[in-house]
Amino acid sequence: MKILGIETSCDETAAAVVENGARVLSSVVHSQINIFEALGGVVPEVAARSHIEMILPVVDAALKDFYFAENPEIADWNAENRAKAWAEIDAIAATTMPGLVGSLLVGSLTARTLALAMRKPFFAIHHVEAHTYANFLTEKIVRKTALEVDAKNKALTKKVEISTQKLRAEQPEFPMLGLIVSGGHSQIVLWKTHGNYELIGQTADDAVGEAFDKVAKILGLPYPGGPAIAKAATSGNPRKYDFPKAKMACKYDFSFSGVKTAVLRRVQSEVGVDHTFPSAQLRERLSVAQVADFAASFQRVAVETLVDKLVLAFREFRPKSVVIAGGVSANQELRDEISRRFTAETYGKAEFADFQKIEFPPLFTCTDNAMMIAANAYFKSQVVAPDGAFATEVKPSISMRETAWNRGE
Ligand code: KG4
Ligand code: ZN
Repeated sequence: MKILGIETSCDETAAAVVENGARVLSSVVHSQINIFEALGGVVPEVAARSHIEMILPVVDAALKDFYFAENPEIADWNAENRAKAWAEIDAIAATTMPGLVGSLLVGSLTARTLALAMRKPFFAIHHVEAHTYANFLTEKIVRKTALEVDAKNKALTKKVEISTQKLRAEQPEFPMLGLIVSGGHSQIVLWKTHGNYELIGQTADDAVGEAFDKVAKILGLPYPGGPAIAKAATSGNPRKYDFPKAKMACKYDFSFSGVKTAVLRRVQSEVGVDHTFPSAQLRERLSVAQVADFAASFQRVAVETLVDKLVLAFREFRPKSVVIAGGVSANQELRDEISRRFTAETYGKAEFADFQKIEFPPLFTCTDNAMMIAANAYFKSQVVAPDGAFATEVKPSISMRETAWNRGE
């Protein structure tokens, strides 16, 4: 079953075709990063307008890539081949929740209109849940074209090569424990099976990605802050500063606004100004070495906070697999710390003999994309009926507490 996925919940316009929730046939992502780098963060109205401009070209490119990959002899993306490509699509899925309302509307309305026009079933997908489905993608089709010189005829010929890139060895088994960490969410979720999950921890204030972005701003690092902090941290001392870890009433909940403020206060005292000093001017007073130490120390505290709670939940719920998902799951320190802690926790212990070795999703599947939307929709399609293309509404702030779609066993 081939599903066309569409994602526009924040600042990436994305479309992808995925087969049976596992094999990526195409994936196109248009990032608005260039626009928002200059503005220092996402402006919802600007994001929505950019989605409007990009959505049809992105969907068309995803269709073209998948069709060309499957038919290497074809080179002309004409109406006939477009129609054939559409005929192979079994369903259309789009992120309808949660996210920026204007952004969600563009992708959702496009997908619903296409579903009606092309007579395809439509599936409404929850963005945060879908991030987890990056862990179900096992391979990706890769189409390479090389130019070959035909010496005899003095001509160049194009040679197309199709290969398969392995993304992971196995799909995760249930029960599955997931740490979903992005710019908008920090959650721990326990799955019994597809669509049957329980949100066991979430952030009370800022998401961890948001904290990365805000701390980056304080330190004068570019947007998005996560990769910029990770890069600056490589030359810093992670133990130079200690920042408090929030104590929460529910042991699996997070809070990241305190650590962000603690970084701000420490930077202010380090450069000799009080709390009234404009934070946008702090960067001019920080040395490169100080920025590196602050980045490394903040990253250490953020990563430790996430992994402490993930390990705690692992001990209580004893899942068969652990997965990480969302933009922050691209963070190498987070991956290293999870590997260290889970190896120590499970290795050589009989009680964890059937615990699946943790496999991390490739980086290009962690940040916003439509592969995860199409994969999520495939597993949904195996359990529940399609959503009505007319009846579906976007839901900008619905939590995973309310969205499990499979209550059977
Ligand atoms: O999942 P995502 O692309 O979009 C949302 O759904 O929010 O996540 C974006 C977030 C941003 O806050 C970004 O700073 C963070 O993911 N991020 C990272 C890294 N790469 C992206 N955070 C830490 N380390 C990274 N390497
Ligand atoms: Zn996301």
